[in-house]
Amino acid sequence: MTRKLFVTTALPYANANFHIGHIMEYTQADIWVRFQRMQGHEVHFVCADDAHGAPIMIAAEKAGKTPQEFVAGIAAGRKTYLDGFHIGFDHWSSTDSPQNHALSQEIYRALRHNELISVKTIEQFFDPAKGMFLPDRFIKGECPKCGAKDQYGDSCEVCGAVYTPTELKNPFSVLTGATPVMKSSEHYFFKLSDERCVNFLQEWTQTPGRLQSEVLNKIREWFTKDEEGNGGLGDWDISRDAPYFGIEIPDAPGKYFYVWLDAPIGYLASLKGWFATQGRDFDAYMADESVEQIHFIGKDITYFHTLFWPAMLHFSGRKTPSHVHVHGFLTVNGGEKMSKSRGTGLDPLKYLNLGMNAEWLRYYLAAKLNSRVEDLDFNPEDFVARVNSDLVGKYINIASRAAGFLAKRFAGQLSAEVGVEGRSLLDALQTQAGTIAELFDTREFGKALREIMLLADKVNEYVDQHKPWELAKKEGMDAVLQDVCTTCIEAFRLLTIYLKPVLPALAAKVETFLRVEPLRFADAATLLGAHTIGAYEHLMQRVDIQLLEALFEPPAPPTVVPGGEELAPEIKIDDFSKVDLRIAKIVKAELVEGSDKLLRLTLDAGEGRLRNVFSGIRAAYKPEDLEGKLTVLVANLAPRKMKFGVSEGMVLAASHGDEKVNPGLFVLEPHAGAQPGMRVR
Ligand code: 2FM
Ligand code: ZN
Repeated sequence: MTRKLFVTTALPYANANFHIGHIMEYTQADIWVRFQRMQGHEVHFVCADDAHGAPIMIAAEKAGKTPQEFVAGIAAGRKTYLDGFHIGFDHWSSTDSPQNHALSQEIYRALRHNELISVKTIEQFFDPAKGMFLPDRFIKGECPKCGAKDQYGDSCEVCGAVYTPTELKNPFSVLTGATPVMKSSEHYFFKLSDERCVNFLQEWTQTPGRLQSEVLNKIREWFTKDEEGNGGLGDWDISRDAPYFGIEIPDAPGKYFYVWLDAPIGYLASLKGWFATQGRDFDAYMADESVEQIHFIGKDITYFHTLFWPAMLHFSGRKTPSHVHVHGFLTVNGGEKMSKSRGTGLDPLKYLNLGMNAEWLRYYLAAKLNSRVEDLDFNPEDFVARVNSDLVGKYINIASRAAGFLAKRFAGQLSAEVGVEGRSLLDALQTQAGTIAELFDTREFGKALREIMLLADKVNEYVDQHKPWELAKKEGMDAVLQDVCTTCIEAFRLLTIYLKPVLPALAAKVETFLRVEPLRFADAATLLGAHTIGAYEHLMQRVDIQLLEALFEPPAPPTVVPGGEELAPEIKIDDFSKVDLRIAKIVKAELVEGSDKLLRLTLDAGEGRLRNVFSGIRAAYKPEDLEGKLTVLVANLAPRKMKFGVSEGMVLAASHGDEKVNPGLFVLEPHAGAQPGMRVR
């Protein structure tokens, strides 16, 4: 029976390029999808950028872009990686798409209709200067346990303590430096603790064959309450207050869905977008009970995918996931685990730019992947060994050894039938088709490749026994030579079928060389027989260890100027002319009560009005030393609300990058003759 498969990978945040962890996940899913297609199943394989949330909004602001522009910039870089690593998504969308806005609101309305939404007032840190509630990651302060400075709102990197942002001493906003204040606001919750949800999720998660056993164990912990009744499934805060880059909550002005609510809905929205381009009926497809919905994800986002997501779907009357396939993290060289923001030393784009073959990496990752939630390590020596000894040494060599004789001596003509020994070798290869297929289907890619390499070993033993290079020199042995080489090519074709999910580009070259239609798994049941193959062209190079050295070589150090601070990235003249610098006269300079850093400057920039600017130069200047002097003002900087008032611009001053070690602060002053209001360009 033809399976109908709807397959996704986790939607990556649109705030950075892919790192090797993304490529691993996509490769795992892509191999599985290609395998299913080779079985004749119908697969829709989609992904999208996860566009929303406070971090992206803030990153966009920093980059001087709208969130939409910022996300579009990241999206534009995706194709190079996906094409480069042969990752064949049918469709790539964004969670900011119209489809996702509509679907998210629709699903929310259905949950509300089922009385699974509640509203509670909660207190949270608020940045008074920025006028926004602060996510934990944007609050820092001193660790409540060990007093270490500059620690994030959730845990201490020095002593490892875990706490809530309100426990920090001297907390400050990472965005403005302002002291956050507690402020209450209404939040919307998805009532996951509702008995209906708990009962449904118990049943859904326990359905045999749905989830991996390690995942189930974790879920059991999440369900369990301790003796004091703590723990268990809690209600989920699904709203965020404006300003927020996200989807508006219906009937709740100023409230947006928390990014994690609309992110998984992006799976459906992307499929819907894909179907729209195909003229297919999305609703009919999703209503088809035989459609299997399958998500590939990393272990860190299991909670969202095995609790929130199925509950959201079920209680909005939709199909729930058939499987959530969870993988571990990728480490590099036994090193630290993949970090979402920092990545590892293995930059996938550098890999491609060095001209390294993407299928080496696909093969290597496949060799290490299994169906469990285990971390896996990228080890350069191991990589070289697997590619050179197994992939090239055992598999590619079979073709290169046999093809030359067939071309030169028999015009590429294979024997219609091979002898008893060849036949029994090919039988051995053909009978493994089922086992190998089963391993691919259950995501035991490492085991599948080991089986395939054992078969390749058998073929190489056969070649070593029959020594075609010696047969070629003997008189009257033509038929035997053709028979042996035919056996090799038949075997090579079978191995290519088995490897094709992992090595799609190579398999395409082999299909051209063998002059056959695109190979499917069922083709392993037959042989080529009397068939003429094309000319052999070199299929794959060995890896040179020097390439790996280059890959891991740290990037050239950034240009350093004498002051010790890195040079900022290059800009265009247009970027510079966006900054409107004006000569301004310091009419008045005063101390600011309550601040040991700031001076309040009253400036005349020739505008017929005076400006109020706070400047962090108190340590270096007495107010009276500045009054009457000229300086340079950034005149078109957005006004900033500070604790002491609004600052309408910024004056320029020179300092070292590392002020604490290297003190000194020098306000800029023009040469004599400059007048307030003149533009500096
Ligand atoms: O963890 C992440 O990178 C999220 N952007 C994954 C979202 S998966 C799905 F829910 F969209
Ligand atoms: Zn600490």
